[in-house]
Amino acid sequence: MKTKIIRLLKNSDGFLSGENISDEFGVSRSAIWKYMNTLKEEGYKIESVPRKGYRLISSPDILTLEEVEEYMNTNFIGRNIHYFNSLSSTNTKAKGIAIQAKEGTIIVAEEQIRGKGRLGRSWTSPKGKGIWMSIILKPRVDPAKVAKITLIGAAAVNQGLKDIGIKSYIKWPNDIIIDGKKVCGILTEMSCELNMINYVIMGIGINVNLGREDFDDELIDKATSLKEVVGEEIDRKKLLAYVLNHFEELYIPFKESGDISKTIQVCRRESILIGKEVRIINGDTEKSGKVLGIDNEGQLIVEHGDGSIEELFSGEVSIRGMEGYL
Ligand code: BTN
Repeated sequence: MKTKIIRLLKNSDGFLSGENISDEFGVSRSAIWKYMNTLKEEGYKIESVPRKGYRLISSPDILTLEEVEEYMNTNFIGRNIHYFNSLSSTNTKAKGIAIQAKEGTIIVAEEQIRGKGRLGRSWTSPKGKGIWMSIILKPRVDPAKVAKITLIGAAAVNQGLKDIGIKSYIKWPNDIIIDGKKVCGILTEMSCELNMINYVIMGIGINVNLGREDFDDELIDKATSLKEVVGEEIDRKKLLAYVLNHFEELYIPFKESGDISKTIQVCRRESILIGKEVRIINGDTEKSGKVLGIDNEGQLIVEHGDGSIEELFSGEVSIRGMEGYL
């Protein structure tokens, strides 16, 4: 009901009388009055004038379906948003509901208390300043091929940023980089049988409106936010919708036939690694090499000093520049 009222308010130019709303939904005028109060508590500015009715003045900066859908053109990705003010981690929540959830359902939280990064690291997720979300996916592909799915997320974020006029680079396989610093990370987790995927959780964290004070000392040189780069607040609703739009477009061919050619094109074109000398860190071991490219399967092709070629699978490796993060 709340959703319907928000949609009605958003779609009307002037005042909506309490009587009209109650007729439309078949509930009492006092019930409508209560809904309006709940909406006001959630941050909606609603003008109420006796004998005229209600008028929406402004909406809060929250990532609910009602707020994001006007920018979305997807069929199933993000059409079901489970929205939370605070969560431990959206990935953990997504795992809890994944079996019964429809494919494309997303979990969004305004803050994460224990946001998870790759390789057991934590992920800073302050309230209302980022996009912290997990997408539930159920592709019928060989579990061994699922690692590539992370590239779809990276390409979708890169293209969503482009839609809002921000140039970013993809650091294979799961980071988005601007000015040599990380603005987005992706953590893909999976539950599968030997030859069948139960579900994949793609957790995407985008540092949208974080300030310097939001980053721990150890992140100061490695991470940044879109607000820091652009110098002004970024519209999280639009960005979330645009990322979801690109995600669906790139995901459908993968889901239907394992085709990630369009994703690979984006990852090659927007790569920050191709042509660079890098260090490849795998647990305690470190090797160096030059990145030659990304193959059609999404693997990173690296040439080592002795001329040997290695194809890296987007597993448990970290790639760093020769002198620092990149
Ligand atoms: C990384 O680069 O280390 C991956 C970071 C992934 C962070 C996102 S935020 C939403 C989702 N929930 C989590 O706990 N982690 C991912």
